[in-house]
Amino acid sequence: MKNTSAIALAIASVISTTAFAGIDASKLPPAATKKGVTYATDIKPLFQASCIRCHGAERPKGGLRLDSLESVLKGGKEGPVVVIGDGAKSDLVIAVSQLDPEMSMPPKPRPGRGGPRGPGGQWSEGQKGTNAPTGGQGQRPGGPGGPGGNQPPAKPLTPDQVGLVRAWIDQGAK
Ligand code: HEC
Repeated sequence: MKNTSAIALAIASVISTTAFAGIDASKLPPAATKKGVTYATDIKPLFQASCIRCHGAERPKGGLRLDSLESVLKGGKEGPVVVIGDGAKSDLVIAVSQLDPEMSMPPKPRPGRGGPRGPGGQWSEGQKGTNAPTGGQGQRPGGPGGPGGNQPPAKPLTPDQVGLVRAWIDQGAK
């Protein structure tokens, strides 16, 4: 019986760590002052440069397509990413602001790509007997382990561009 409150506490602390929970909205870049921001003229070019390669028609990541106004508003497999009229609460803005390390878009390149290149063949001297390699000769040590993908990483949006996305949503995401 005594333990129940400790358990409840533990559960509560697990529950409180949802994605997007921890960002401080006051750190977001301010909304741009530009009036009449629209997807077609202001936002699409930004997405085209930084997002469409992963959020286009072909196998869009997270089920989210950013190549038309309709699909942006529809959202991804987790649901809508835009809260129309409130850019600061929109996952889309939070993602591009890169304030949340769990969900920064475009994704930050992973540090430390080093695959184990180290000691390769240990088939030196005349190892016979018990642990002679069964597979014969060929086994190559350590795969290619390349840096995964040959495109340069997508550019993050600048704070001004984040402000523009924010203004666009504040103004009704037209
Ligand atoms: C290198 C590929 C890549 C690029 C470039 C990229 N994304 Fe993503 N994005 C992903 C992946 C992968 C996910 C799914 C993450 C997950 O489900 O955990 C995702 C998920 C998202 C989500 C959350 C979708 C949801 O429903 O939860 C948003 C919002 C998003 N991206 C916006 C953007 C924006 C805006 C850009 C451009 C500024 C962008 N992404 C660029 C790979 C990318």
